Amino acid sequence: MNIEKKVLLTIFGATGDLAKRKLYPSLFGLFKKGILREHFAVIGTARRPWEHETLREVVLESIKDDVENEEFAEKFASHFYYQPHDVQDSEHYRTLKQLGDTLEERYQTEGNQVFYLAMSPNFFGTIALHLKSENIVTEHGYSRLIIEKPFGTDLETATELNEALSNTFTEEQIYRIDHYLGKEMIQNVSAIRFANIIFESIWNKDYIDNIQITFAEAIGVEDRGGYYDGSGALRDMVQNHILQVLSLLAMEPPKKFAEEEIRKEKIKAFQAIHKYTEDEALRYFIPGQYTAGEINNERFIGYREEPNVPEDSLTETFVAGAFFIDNERWDGVPFYIRTGKRLVEKGTRINVVFKTSPQLLTSEECGTNVEPNVLTIYIQPTEGFSLSLNGKEMGQDFNLSPVALSYRHDSEFLGNSPEAYEKLLHDTLDGNSSNFSHWEEVKRSWELIDVIKKAWTNHHTELYTYPARTMGPMESYELLERNGHEWIWQPEKWYIERKQLRCDF
Ligand SMILES: NC(=O)c1ccc[n+]([C@@H]2O[C@H](COP(=O)([O-])OP(=O)(O)OC[C@H]3O[C@@H](n4cnc5c(N)ncnc54)[C@H](OP(=O)(O)O)[C@@H]3O)[C@@H](O)[C@H]2O)c1
Repeated sequence: MNIEKKVLLTIFGATGDLAKRKLYPSLFGLFKKGILREHFAVIGTARRPWEHETLREVVLESIKDDVENEEFAEKFASHFYYQPHDVQDSEHYRTLKQLGDTLEERYQTEGNQVFYLAMSPNFFGTIALHLKSENIVTEHGYSRLIIEKPFGTDLETATELNEALSNTFTEEQIYRIDHYLGKEMIQNVSAIRFANIIFESIWNKDYIDNIQITFAEAIGVEDRGGYYDGSGALRDMVQNHILQVLSLLAMEPPKKFAEEEIRKEKIKAFQAIHKYTEDEALRYFIPGQYTAGEINNERFIGYREEPNVPEDSLTETFVAGAFFIDNERWDGVPFYIRTGKRLVEKGTRINVVFKTSPQLLTSEECGTNVEPNVLTIYIQPTEGFSLSLNGKEMGQDFNLSPVALSYRHDSEFLGNSPEAYEKLLHDTLDGNSSNFSHWEEVKRSWELIDVIKKAWTNHHTELYTYPARTMGPMESYELLERNGHEWIWQPEKWYIERKQLRCDF
């Protein structure tokens, strides 16, 4: 079977960080697999006055850890061309078109084009406009647009951006990247749910008590303080990645496991997420910000001391909250979410907490309370899943203790799961947009997030502080305690037990 894809790919922002760290290595991954072979060319554009050779050197440098055969790598790099280009200058698009036409002819790409906008979203509108006005987008072959987050900063700006793109591209042609959706274990959420009758049959309010989604980062804002301070955890993580994951967990089973059917069900799940009033948002969502902290004798500065962050910043570096879903399946089940910077450990995971079994075994009979079964899906840095069950402790007495059935591996160590960007680029070449965010999803997520943001601003909500390298403010724990729940994943305990973290934070 011929798996080769014929395509001309134009990367706007080819000199930038994303292109070097993610895009070139991912394209090389596709080249190694033969998905890109002879009939492809890449035009890199940005303002810097580079030559084709400069770009090729940068490409070779970015893939060097993955190269086994120099000649093969040189062949890959020879498909790259550089065009200096200021996206605001109409004249430049004419040169770009000429280069594109020449390369289409040379590599026989059959008019297929992918435009990757790896640069600030402020420029997306003008690029889309020029791609149409300068006849770079044609009816010959396919034209697809890949764009990076953030998609707007609220519903209004997202709508404006979408309208600007829609003048040139239809919804089917727009691929909004959420790189989490390219991750192996996120795609595995659907496999776990729909390919295992033991889960899908109990995937509802009768058996599930609550679901917890944690996206924890150990790093601070590093050199991105300026960008981050205008965004915050709610917009940077919840609006996109967390709500996407939530929709995969909450959606109804699609009629068929096909792109269109999955999309339909995901959009329905987004629509069913309860949109809060401002009062409800204040009750269910709390913002936090890290102060200086210490773990294992290592000290970390507070957010307001970070470079390019104002010393009176009110930006949240942490958010915890609960979403509810207004439908029959999930009525009353909280979907707790939390995400933050400078938390104890880096880790993305989902805990599905089942209801405890009817009290056939009371604590008198089994010596302890029956723990709930928990299905944990590990997304990063380890991948896999585990299921905790109650078993009998060995010995004369009938004491229960939880045991975990676990399948877990370190994805980077084993190197067996392709980079998320590689998968998503491959999907784009296949015309499969199921792992990208649809406009209806983006729109709904902004509707949900805008209320929370407005509630915090209008009511001057207190910004709860937490020392760097803890799991967020105490209020995050209290949020769950109010409903008789607790965070299942508490990595801080490990450090506290070993006296590497103080317990009185
Ligand atoms: N880096 C990541 O890991 C990451 C992750 C998720 C999302 N993103 C998103 O991806 C996008 C790119 O991020 P990045 O980190 O790669 O940014 P970056 O390193 O700042 O790169 C921006 C690129 O845009 C080019 N550029 C700026 N103004 C231009 C103009 N007027 N005309 C033509 N080119 C121009 C720059 O090159 P010249 O200076 O040579 O013009 C550079 O190549 C952003 O939307 C970001 O939010 C990035």
